[in-house]
Amino acid sequence: MRYVEVQGAKVSVIGLGAWQFGAQGWDYGDDYIDRESRLIVEKALDLGVNLIDTAEAYGRGRSEEVLAGAIAARRGEVFLATKVFPNEPLDAEEVVRRARASAERMGVDRIDLYQQHWPSDQAPLEQVMSGMARLQAEGLVTHVGVSNFSTELWREAEEALGGPVLSNQVRFSLVSRHPEQRLIPRAEADGRIVIAYSPLGQGFLSGRYDGSNTPSDLRQNNPLFRPEVVAKAGAMTSALAEVAATHGATPAQIALAWVIARPNVVAIPGASSVGQMASNAAAADIELTEDEDVRLSEAADAFVAEAGDDLVRR
Ligand SMILES: NC(=O)c1ccc[n+]([C@@H]2O[C@H](COP(=O)([O-])OP(=O)(O)OC[C@H]3O[C@@H](n4cnc5c(N)ncnc54)[C@H](OP(=O)(O)O)[C@@H]3O)[C@@H](O)[C@H]2O)c1
Repeated sequence: MRYVEVQGAKVSVIGLGAWQFGAQGWDYGDDYIDRESRLIVEKALDLGVNLIDTAEAYGRGRSEEVLAGAIAARRGEVFLATKVFPNEPLDAEEVVRRARASAERMGVDRIDLYQQHWPSDQAPLEQVMSGMARLQAEGLVTHVGVSNFSTELWREAEEALGGPVLSNQVRFSLVSRHPEQRLIPRAEADGRIVIAYSPLGQGFLSGRYDGSNTPSDLRQNNPLFRPEVVAKAGAMTSALAEVAATHGATPAQIALAWVIARPNVVAIPGASSVGQMASNAAAADIELTEDEDVRLSEAADAFVAEAGDDLVRR
């Protein structure tokens, strides 16, 4: 496994997204929640993955509760990240209360990375960051992060906190490239991290969904899976498959390798099985050539241009 090391944090370039553990909308079933999730976490840790990302919003705390059992015996190996959601007005007091509730659900006395899930008028930065600073001072939270923030807001959050906001978690993949413009250069210049969510385009980049085979879960709301969009993905899917064949890898692994080839970027793919987790972790060892990188980037750009910009702006 490869790691990004900044601001005293050491984070694996491939992490594990635990939204799926909260069930809501993913429909992987009880066995996945009760048994497979724990095996996925164990496999991740065995392979040197330390970043595990959850949120109080995932299944209204269910994902955090599921993680509690999965990490209990190996807490020291995990860089544990969760998030506070501005579903109602957040002041400093409320942020502290929510962090304590998350820690309790996860059975931990320290949250390695506590992130504001979305910017919101209901969550003034001064208030949220004042709560974050209190949590850091009392030792419950080690690093502060944000999610879905612009570069400007990320900097404003740092001013409000009076210290570094380690990471910004944003949608980033071959089909969602906007973070390359400013967020990633900012992270590289200032020693911060961009955490890429939906790095597989929610599984679209695996090539498994070909229009006749659409996922029946929350992804029905994802425009990437519309048959008329999938129909335009042929050239990109072929590029991924051909590069994958050269490396003895899968298209999903190549899509991840492309994401984490960017400086200061780590990816947090979700996994519906232990096998997917292992395969995702192995993507950390794949080095794309410059030609391959350009080929994939161009094929993805052509696809997005043809399929429409709302794919990226969702
Ligand atoms: N901060 C935010 O606002 C935000 C928003 C969204 C997500 N997130 C975080 O990011 C994490 C990942 O994002 P995501 O779940 O939206 O999308 P993703 O990681 O791009 O896609 C995950 C899905 O892709 C499929 N997959 C995973 N590994 C695969 C492999 N090796 N081969 C083939 N298919 C594979 C699985 O679905 P199937 O097997 O069913 O196809 C899996 O559920 C979430 O768990 C969550 O922690 C954060």
